[in-house]
Amino acid sequence: MTDKQRLKEIERRRTFAIISHPDAGKTTLTEKLLLFGGAIREAGAVKSNKINRNTISDFMEIERQRGISVATSVMGFEYNGIKINILDTPGHKDFAEDTYRTLSAVDSAIIVIDVAKGVEEQTEKLMNVCRMHKIPVITFINKLDRMGRDVIELLDEIEEKLDIVVTPLSWPIGMGPSFKGVYNIFVHKLALFNPHGKQEDGKTQIIHDLADPILNRLLDMSAQKLRDDLALIQGIYPAFNIQDYQEGILSPVFFGSAINNFGVKELLDCFIHIAPSPIPRETMTRSVDPKEESFTGFIFKIHANIDPNHRTRIAFIRVCSGKFERGKAYYHTRLNREFRFSGPTSFMANRKEVIDEAFPGDVVGVNDNGNFKIGDTLTEGESLRFKGIPTFSPEQFRYIENTDSMRHKQLAKGLEQLMDEGVAQLFVSQHNNRRIIGTVGALQFEVIKYRLENEYGASCRYEPLSLYKACWITSSDEKALKTFRLRKARFMAFDKYKRDVFMSESPWALNRAMEEFPEITFHFSSEF
Ligand code: G4P
Repeated sequence: MTDKQRLKEIERRRTFAIISHPDAGKTTLTEKLLLFGGAIREAGAVKSNKINRNTISDFMEIERQRGISVATSVMGFEYNGIKINILDTPGHKDFAEDTYRTLSAVDSAIIVIDVAKGVEEQTEKLMNVCRMHKIPVITFINKLDRMGRDVIELLDEIEEKLDIVVTPLSWPIGMGPSFKGVYNIFVHKLALFNPHGKQEDGKTQIIHDLADPILNRLLDMSAQKLRDDLALIQGIYPAFNIQDYQEGILSPVFFGSAINNFGVKELLDCFIHIAPSPIPRETMTRSVDPKEESFTGFIFKIHANIDPNHRTRIAFIRVCSGKFERGKAYYHTRLNREFRFSGPTSFMANRKEVIDEAFPGDVVGVNDNGNFKIGDTLTEGESLRFKGIPTFSPEQFRYIENTDSMRHKQLAKGLEQLMDEGVAQLFVSQHNNRRIIGTVGALQFEVIKYRLENEYGASCRYEPLSLYKACWITSSDEKALKTFRLRKARFMAFDKYKRDVFMSESPWALNRAMEEFPEITFHFSSEF
């Protein structure tokens, strides 16, 4: 392969995630995109990864299904000469950390908002992570076939709560029972909505001049309203500018109804046009450009097979530069060892295939027998470590205790592996040496216990622990650190890298500690 061909492969890749508050329509939109890409043939092929009942059995059922078809983690397909990789994210807020990590492996995102519900709690949190990673975001406002909020009011809310400038690239004509379609501002095309049929290109009328009387014939009374709306929004919103979008300052907005496959093609056609191809990624020492010849990549996800008879794990590598080749030796920078992968896989919709090569933007799955942790970097020899895969300060804590002295090894091994997968964080109290598990959601405690017992044969129980937050502390003032450790001894713990962590009991205690020790920096994510 020539350099020119390799660069072309990079250029034609779009790797992104679809994110939303549960129920806004992420699964439905994903499915429709896959239908357009010909990656699936019928609706219903994409399984929702939503946990509806908030129970452990529900979670396990989903995990079992995914264990059988891990391919759902990454959905790749070709569309108009573009290679699209959609990275799946969990649908439950207790697994938000998994989503945050997936966002470290994408180059852009589509955020789905329910027209009736507007910006919800999870939408805000996810947007904050996008901002942290400087990921460009396209907004898709969904469910226009139902009555929802006033559109301008909704756009105001998005700007305010998500702290981003918006500019509509399509505009809805009516809503709910009077929803007539969307006018695509980006390409000046009118698409009419037929609630009983599917949107086909044939039904899309091309209107270049809004004064065209054909508009009156097609839309009756709504024609003038559309003209007025478009004149109004031109004055309110900035013109679309690809640079501001790619820098994460401006979010173009599309409207549609995913379930009716309406407005989705417009979104996809614009997406492949404006969304960035693989972008440079930061390491601790330098920025890595995707066009560099040498291969680099990092692990952003580890998927365990929860079937105890098939214990292999799959580590997902995001290729960042060069070309990944099957069978070639790659350098695992944390372990200072070389690894070869004889059967790396790629994911095309619901198929998993062994591949010979992969390019920046692609995700490669490799079998792992416990050598990988989230965030591990692979290179052709250079000692690098990619940034941007932090763990966040957990919000719920419990002591975990072994309940069978004959099986303490099983517990230790299980805990180590689950923590490598990024299921939760483990701390060890400096005060009493007890192990503390920190998570972002309550459901994870149940999952951890279930998996420790069923996959590792451990026997354990939790004990309640009332803490507010764990934060990492650093200071250039050694004396201050020493005093802090002494004064707060009961609340000090180590993380897995033996770094100092302060476990504060309440917001008040945390504020007080910050006031008392101005020389100390408190970090709320593990990357500092
Ligand atoms: P999520 O992955 O973001 O959680 O959302 P999902 O796609 O599962 O959609 C949540 C619900 O919203 C589903 O209904 C889905 O059918 C519905 N939905 C998605 N897009 C649209 C739309 O454009 N218009 C309308 N009216 N509904 C939409 P459900 O009843 O929870 O599930 P199901 O039984 O229909 O699968």
